[in-house]
Amino acid sequence: MEKHINVKLHVWRQANRQAQGRFVTYDAPNVSTEMSFLEMLDVVNEGLIKKGEDPIVIDHDCREGICGACNLVINGRPHGPKERTTTCQLHMRSFEDGQEITIEPIRAEAFPVLKDLMVDRSALDRIIAAGGFISAPTGCACDANATPVEKQKADLAFDAAACIGCGACVAACPNASAMLFTAAKISHLALLPQGQPERMNRARAMVAQMDKEGFGTCTNHGECEAACPKGITLDTIARMNRDFIKASITYRPEGAAGGF
Ligand code: SF4
Ligand code: FES
Repeated sequence: MEKHINVKLHVWRQANRQAQGRFVTYDAPNVSTEMSFLEMLDVVNEGLIKKGEDPIVIDHDCREGICGACNLVINGRPHGPKERTTTCQLHMRSFEDGQEITIEPIRAEAFPVLKDLMVDRSALDRIIAAGGFISAPTGCACDANATPVEKQKADLAFDAAACIGCGACVAACPNASAMLFTAAKISHLALLPQGQPERMNRARAMVAQMDKEGFGTCTNHGECEAACPKGITLDTIARMNRDFIKASITYRPEGAAGGF
């Protein structure tokens, strides 16, 4: 049943990448518990605009849990208090009347703040560009079932493909590691027959790009799995590590003589 609550927000405000940020407190009165978290911020922003103040910048696109743009750190947790929920699908009924809510951007060296709560996540795009593709012709929609895929592998590939690139795993990791994201993208293609031709190169190239972007290393905290709104599991990291080790052992630079 719809209720209305009053909450106090402590929001990270930062004019640009170079500026020093700080928390600013705003009251959000009479918030419907049926509102999404982003809708609540929209109302706060309308109030700021009416007062002639700068609205709070947030990143969002689909508002349906698909695009991954809306990752905010809410009371210290990426995407807030509900498991397997993106910020855009989080509702204000998850909060209490009178609650204080701290809202911060994802904090990682590889995700510089652009403004307020919006960070530059293009490092994740560059990891995908390094190898997250296939060259095998797959035909069009009517050819979808032409290549048989074992059911168990198809299911695992589908689970890995659920990653929306939100960066919550990075935000949750004490090392700001992007291993869960990279592993999901590598796993998805490594499990399908169409992904086999570039499988080894893909693992090597994507891990190298991940390191180049300044993400930290995995030290098995498991916080990434707990924070992931799409339920990506640590098994994907194990699969990526296996492929990466194999790829590193078998790699020969172009033009090098083969064999040991
Ligand atoms: S693995 Fe999960 S938390 Fe990490 S980017 Fe993908 S969906 Fe987001
Ligand atoms: S706005 Fe697209 S996942 Fe939240």
